[in-house]
Amino acid sequence: MEARVWSCLVVVSLALLVASPAAAAEEVEKVLTLDHSNFSDTVSKHSFIVVEFYAPWCGHCKALAPEYEKAAAALSSHEPAIVLAKVDANEEVNRDLATQFEIQGFPTIKILRNGGKIIQDYKGPREADGIVEYLKKQVGPPSAEIKSAEDAASLIDDKKIFIVGIFPKFSGEEYENFTALADKLRSDYEFGHTLDAKLISRGESVSKPTVRLLKPFDELVVDSEEFNVEALEKFIEVSTVPVLTVWNSDPANHPYVNKFFEGPGDKAMLFVNFSKEQEAYQPTYKSVAALYKGKGISFMLGDVDSTQNAFQYFGLKTEQAPVIIVQTAEGKKYLQTNIAANQIASWVKDFSNGLVKEFVKSEPIPEVNDEPVKVVVRDSLQDVVFNSGKNVLLEFYAPWCGHCKQLAPILDEVAISFESDPNVVIAKFDATANDVPKGDFEVQGFPTIYFRSSTGSLSQYEGDRTKEDIIKFIETNRDKTAEATSTKAESTTESVDADSVKDEL
Ligand SMILES: *[C@@H]1O[C@H](CO)[C@@H](O)[C@H](O)[C@H]1NC(C)=O
Ligand SMILES: *[C@@H]1O[C@H](CO)[C@@H](O)[C@H](O)[C@H]1NC(C)=O
Ligand SMILES: *[C@@H]1O[C@H](CO)[C@@H](O)[C@H](O)[C@H]1NC(C)=O
Repeated sequence: MEARVWSCLVVVSLALLVASPAAAAEEVEKVLTLDHSNFSDTVSKHSFIVVEFYAPWCGHCKALAPEYEKAAAALSSHEPAIVLAKVDANEEVNRDLATQFEIQGFPTIKILRNGGKIIQDYKGPREADGIVEYLKKQVGPPSAEIKSAEDAASLIDDKKIFIVGIFPKFSGEEYENFTALADKLRSDYEFGHTLDAKLISRGESVSKPTVRLLKPFDELVVDSEEFNVEALEKFIEVSTVPVLTVWNSDPANHPYVNKFFEGPGDKAMLFVNFSKEQEAYQPTYKSVAALYKGKGISFMLGDVDSTQNAFQYFGLKTEQAPVIIVQTAEGKKYLQTNIAANQIASWVKDFSNGLVKEFVKSEPIPEVNDEPVKVVVRDSLQDVVFNSGKNVLLEFYAPWCGHCKQLAPILDEVAISFESDPNVVIAKFDATANDVPKGDFEVQGFPTIYFRSSTGSLSQYEGDRTKEDIIKFIETNRDKTAEATSTKAESTTESVDADSVKDEL
């Protein structure tokens, strides 16, 4: 259990792949630094406080820091107070806080209201002006009254979703339900209420209480007369997902991209070069998307020039575009590279009929593998770990993870100390470049270390990351009886150097 304490968290959310712009550094610290010792105390004293959970090694956090600081400075004199704080969630002492707030990737920003009694996700922009504007709205009433056409014009941005409650009077159960939901969803959407439907430029006049959702895509306006809170929330959830989400460099699209990745079900993603191919692909792809609307699969079209992070994540190369990938809710992947526009409909149909073969990401099997710690890739995992009949200690790591870098020389020493033992293999697996098979291993953080004995019992190593403890663990858990029956003849060339022998003594 404790492994997370000093692990790098796996960035589980694809949403974090959406880049945020970098900016210049600031000097004065307006952002409060909190840690386990003063978090609860500080939060309980504020009716509204924003907390960023970050890790020092995280690139998106570094890009956010100066913007967040600028926003904190701009908001420092706001009435009522808007306080911005940060917690280094990578610090061992703050781990409980990270767990309590279910932090799964960095940065994660939470809005805490009412002394921390209400917690919402920050869904706003990541540059200073946007943060300021978003938070000012968050601290005001959950829904703004629209009394005039001017109010409507200043509140409703045609490029964003806006949800208006239209009522004959501002009281009654419909109005109360609407306001309660606006309060709950206020960090996701902007809400307004009015007595006069004519003030809203889109939609028909109404004779009953109505919730009108304005959006910058598809049918542009959609009404609901249902005021049951759960049903209304569902209506908003369904209506705010475009038939086809577009991911390009336009930041106005990025909230939908995040929503796409956070949404349920299977996700189809088509990546093309927009400057050459958008026109040829988008209409066809959108008609396929419309065909599957509400059937458990959502669709996104990405521009190869803006989605390099996703390309890396899926282990793809630009030459493979146009490429379509489906990632299922269970995490399985299916893909077709260099797909033509007129092949999309039949490929998606084949996928939904179970006729497409699963895609598994792997680096090539290394031709030379003569370092003490052996390199295992997805395509060699079966041979090295499951079918070798050896005792294998396998580290799952990420190249960017600091704790993994610290562990590397220790694993080297462990491997060297077993170099003359043909029944023990120390290996490492780059879990960013290779898919970890689901079911066998649970990799929640890096490094994660597993041990598979020669007879197949699999356990996770959760002890101290020292040479002595790891060696002791291997000696305790390896299967000696099975080894006794296997021949030692397969022991081939070993380069036992004097130092490693000495270490053993
Ligand atoms: C919380 O404690 C940390 C560590 O002692 C300190 O650096 C920070 O300034 C404190 N923050 C507040 C708001 O007291
Ligand atoms: C308001 O919401 C509650 C809870 O969902 C529901 O029981 C009630 O019927 C709703 N009122 C109206 C007028 O729809
Ligand atoms: C996309 O196409 C343009 C125009 O042909 C080209 O300049 C650009 O390099 C392409 N982008 C990628 C990532 O291939």
